[in-house]
Amino acid sequence: MKYFFANWKMYLTAAESRSAARSLAGFSLPEGIRAAVFPNTLAFSAAADELGGSYWQLGAQNVDSTPQGAYTGATSALMFKEAGAVYALVGHSERRHIFGETDEAAHNKTQACLDAGLIPVVCVGESESDRKEDKRQYRLKKQLFQVFTGLNLPSGAALVAYEPVWAIGSGEPCAPADADDVAGWIKLELSQSFGLTAAVLYGGSVTPDNVAGYLEREAIDGVLSGSASTRPDSVAAMLAAVEGSG
Ligand code: 13P
Repeated sequence: MKYFFANWKMYLTAAESRSAARSLAGFSLPEGIRAAVFPNTLAFSAAADELGGSYWQLGAQNVDSTPQGAYTGATSALMFKEAGAVYALVGHSERRHIFGETDEAAHNKTQACLDAGLIPVVCVGESESDRKEDKRQYRLKKQLFQVFTGLNLPSGAALVAYEPVWAIGSGEPCAPADADDVAGWIKLELSQSFGLTAAVLYGGSVTPDNVAGYLEREAIDGVLSGSASTRPDSVAAMLAAVEGSG
C-alpha cells in the first residue's frame, strides 16, 4: 500500500477547492493507493462535502497544540477531527521557515494529533545550506529526535514525510534513489531509537513525470505533492502514471 497525499497549501480558495475536490472525487484510485487531500482550513468543509463517500481522505495542514481555549486564530486537532480529518501535517518546512515553528512546537502538535485521534504526518528535511555542509543526517536526526522523544505512540500511529527544503517548489526534486536511501535511513533511526515502525513519504517537486519513480521504491511509502496536486488534470496524470507503473 502506498500513499498519495495532496497538500494544497494556500493555493486555492474555498470555491476553487470545492471544484478541485469534486473532480478528484470522480477519479478512481489505482489499486493499493491510499489518497488524501490537505485543503486550506477555510476550504476544509467544502472539500470534505465533495469528497465524502469517495476514496479520498482528508488532512489538516496545520493544527494548534492545545485542544480548546483563548487562542485567537488557531484551530485545534480536535476541531479538524470533528470536521472529518484523518491526518495532519506537522512541522512542514513552510511552517518552520516562514512561521518560525520550532521542533518543540512540532513535538507538541504531534502529541495533540495523537490525543485527538489524528494521524500526524511529521515533516522533516534538510535545508540547502545543510545539504552544502553535508549536514543532512544531522538535521534529520535532530528533527526526528525532538519530535519523537517522549511521545508514547504505537507503531503505525504516525507517518513521516521526508521533504528536503531545497526540493520544495523548486522544480529540483531529490532523485528517487537518494530519497529512497533517506527513507530507509529514517526507518532505521525510528526503529533503533524509538522501537517505532512508520511509513515514510517523499515530498518536493513531485510531478506526473517523476511520481512513479518514487512509488516504485522499496523504502518510500508514498508521496506528498504540493503545487502539482492543486490541478485535477495533473492529479489525474499522477494517478495514471502510478497505475501504469504498477
Ligand atoms: P511542491 O510539490 O510544490 O514542491 O511542494 C511539496 C510540499 O511541500 C508538499 O508538502
